[in-house]
Amino acid sequence: ESRQRGKLLDLHEAATVWFQEQLRSPEGAGAREYLTGRGVTPEAIAKFRIGFAPDSYTALRDRLASGVDAESLRASGLFSWKEQEDGSPGPLYSRFRKRITFPIMNESGRVIAFTARALDSATAGNEKAGPKYLNSPETPLYSKGQVLFNLDKARAAIRQLNFALLVEGQMDCISVYMTGVQNVLATSGTAFTEYQVNLLKRHCTQVAVNFDPDTAGANAAEKSIALLTEEGFTVKVITLEDGLDPDRYVRERGAAAYHTAARTAQALPDYLIERARQLFPSRSPEAKVKALNYLLPHIRRMPNLLARDEFAANAAQK
Ligand code: UTP
Ligand code: MN
Ligand code: MN
Ligand code: MN
Ligand code: MN
Repeated sequence: ESRQRGKLLDLHEAATVWFQEQLRSPEGAGAREYLTGRGVTPEAIAKFRIGFAPDSYTALRDRLASGVDAESLRASGLFSWKEQEDGSPGPLYSRFRKRITFPIMNESGRVIAFTARALDSATAGNEKAGPKYLNSPETPLYSKGQVLFNLDKARAAIRQLNFALLVEGQMDCISVYMTGVQNVLATSGTAFTEYQVNLLKRHCTQVAVNFDPDTAGANAAEKSIALLTEEGFTVKVITLEDGLDPDRYVRERGAAAYHTAARTAQALPDYLIERARQLFPSRSPEAKVKALNYLLPHIRRMPNLLARDEFAANAAQK
């Protein structure tokens, strides 16, 4: 079991190094251009060990396979294969092709999985190009809901500040981190899981969430906020104007503007009351009842009675 883990960690390390080499190679020119166009600096590329999976089905396998048993290669999640007519697995081919690779590290900084972005955002998301981000499958090393992206680099700052900043995407996390915010983590596009909340609980009691200002982000924020409150976190919410996600905000407005936005995070009760007013803008008694019904579950979730009373009084008044 732990020998298997060791082999899989070695495979991921070797794949990371190879993807990094590919990004620097002539084949990686388009990927380098893409990253430069997005404002990803060489410093960020090195720090986050960003790489490139070239458009080849066999190159990674040829590089990694010597001396590694087929079972470990299949378990790594780095490859796909087709089942043959007799039910046996066919030849392995690269799961990630023609994509920017972002290694996902565990808390100790070992690479345990990848997420890989399609180069062309115009074709990303359509059937042929596949999803915009392709992730490693669940493996003996990796379970998506159990990992917080960047926890390895952010952990010390999170402990020191007793505070974590949560964003949705890898690119958000990288951009924000490179502005000097060292306590930033990404959930990787899903709402927080209970596992992730408990992982975070070992390091801090305060969080600010800065999810995308779109429907997916609002839903993820809502669910994450609920879990975090239940677990006793003090929660703040950062809302960025003009529909920008943290990455675009940093690029278009600059680091200082982002830092200002982060400092003006709303305390959770204020955020929720404002959201209730947006969801039910009418001043009719029915709308007020609906707004209260929206708020009540949030109020009930607060473990601290005093905070609960204060929130209820504030909500009733507003
Ligand atoms: P977004 O669609 O907001 O992507 O999804 P993004 O982070 O802004 O990415 P860019 O800026 O276009 O490169 C948020 C997160 O959801 C996950 C990823 O972790 C992504 O960062 N996601 C998104 C996937 O896992 N697969 C997808 O196809 C899309
Ligand atoms: Mn820990
Ligand atoms: Mn989004
Ligand atoms: Mn986004
Ligand atoms: Mn984005």
